[in-house]
Amino acid sequence: MRDLEVNNLTGAEETKLQYEYMEQAKMLVKEREIQAGHKLTCCVKTFGCQMNARDSEKLLGILTDIGYEETEDEHADFVIYNTCTVRENANNKVYGRLGYLSNYKNKNPHMMIALCGCMMQEPSVVEKIRKSYRFVDLIFGTHNIYKFAELLCRSMESNSMIVDIWKDTDKIVEDLPVKRKYSFKSGVNIMFGCNNFCSYCIVPYVRGRERSREPKDIIREIEGLVADGVCEVMLLGQNVNSYGKNLNPPVSFANLLREVNKIKGLKRIRFMTSHPKDLSDDLILAMKECDKVCHHMHLPLQSGSSRLLSVMNRHYDKEQYLALVDKLRAAIPDIAITTDIIVGFPGETEEDFLETLDVVKKVQYDSAFTFIYSKRTGTPAAAMENQCDPKEVKRHFDMLLKEVQEISAAKAYALEGQTMEVLAEEQNEQDPSLITGRLSNNSVVHFPGTPEMIGHLFQVKLTECKGFYYLGEVDADA
Ligand code: SAH
Ligand code: SF4
Ligand code: F3S
Repeated sequence: MRDLEVNNLTGAEETKLQYEYMEQAKMLVKEREIQAGHKLTCCVKTFGCQMNARDSEKLLGILTDIGYEETEDEHADFVIYNTCTVRENANNKVYGRLGYLSNYKNKNPHMMIALCGCMMQEPSVVEKIRKSYRFVDLIFGTHNIYKFAELLCRSMESNSMIVDIWKDTDKIVEDLPVKRKYSFKSGVNIMFGCNNFCSYCIVPYVRGRERSREPKDIIREIEGLVADGVCEVMLLGQNVNSYGKNLNPPVSFANLLREVNKIKGLKRIRFMTSHPKDLSDDLILAMKECDKVCHHMHLPLQSGSSRLLSVMNRHYDKEQYLALVDKLRAAIPDIAITTDIIVGFPGETEEDFLETLDVVKKVQYDSAFTFIYSKRTGTPAAAMENQCDPKEVKRHFDMLLKEVQEISAAKAYALEGQTMEVLAEEQNEQDPSLITGRLSNNSVVHFPGTPEMIGHLFQVKLTECKGFYYLGEVDADA
């Protein structure tokens, strides 16, 4: 693994260099097309979080720019897995699917297989692939993803596996091509990496240290997206509340939101994830002031036990978390609050678990992602000796899931009959007379409408709650 990058180029020079590689790659793709006798196809599969999804749009941007045609089918001429390693089952999925890919490659000699993303930052993974999955053509990590065009050229010109993984980077490379999954909404990275080292979590090891983008670059990107039809952005970072602390001069996340809110033509702003320890009063104020910011806060709890929260290195306790929720609700009464919870962290007792259940009951989350603790090699928690009994963990997990589901159903049904603002997002696939949109709290609503409505906000009466979504109709009087 390389410690750092090998050249001293600035971000802007690197962008220029990568465009030169894209020109070279275009020629290589043309040559391969002639050999293969058909237009080359590419398939980008994403595992993991929204940040990986955004990275995949960048990979696809380059692939389609150099001449590949996009397909969902993994029988493509170029298949890349953008991997996640946050939990063990994310890794297992990748190994399972690689088996299939090797069969496809046996039938298509032109096929190339690439792996990138968080899982590749783990030396043991790369070792295993080198040994047991020798048909893979290209492996790179999270820090050199902006070099994709260059690595692709190298790989197309080589007959052996190319592996290029860096430990970290301090570079942010702007303005590379992107191909968005949705025309009307987009993720926007505002920062990369994480400095928090929660004791169970591998992300800081595979995504490196926290780096924030300059506000002017973020604003320029969003203005460009709006000009291209985007009406909603999701500002992305592992801990958006610590955005800008290391910029010169520092900029707070609250002030970034205020700037983004001024962008003409933009309709909605979302963000994730917020770490409770860094959620400032000013951010709550900014959310209240800024008309485009959705009334939704994803606020990972992880555990309701103050004792475990301390071992998890989260830097808040149960009381502080509950006080934060009260503060949010006092300022923004209709705010939707969602969360992440881990069950089975080493040493979790019945009492600890009951504390978590207590927070869930008190907060009444609109929805919650619940995870069984997964041991990640290299994290402090993996070395703890008091790992939990899987049977107990499963029992707790089921109890928690039941509670969480009952609460979110009750919260969803409580909105039935109300008229709320909905952003029309797309024509319904099953029934083209319907438009599918989202509430500010991220819930889905289907309502009669026409495609011209897409990208606009409407007051929609939620006539029927179907559990996870609503049926509605535009309320002309509202
Ligand atoms: N940066 C975000 C979370 C990123 S990972 C934050 O701090 O909130 C998304 C979620 O995965 C985490 O919130 C946590 O609940 C879960 N997670 C992370 N590591 C895990 C592990 N080792 N086992 C189980 N769940 C884990
Ligand atoms: Fe992981 Fe904690 Fe960083 Fe979130 S804040 S990515 S849970 S270390
Ligand atoms: Fe997974 Fe990496 Fe995201 S480990 S959750 S894809 S930052």
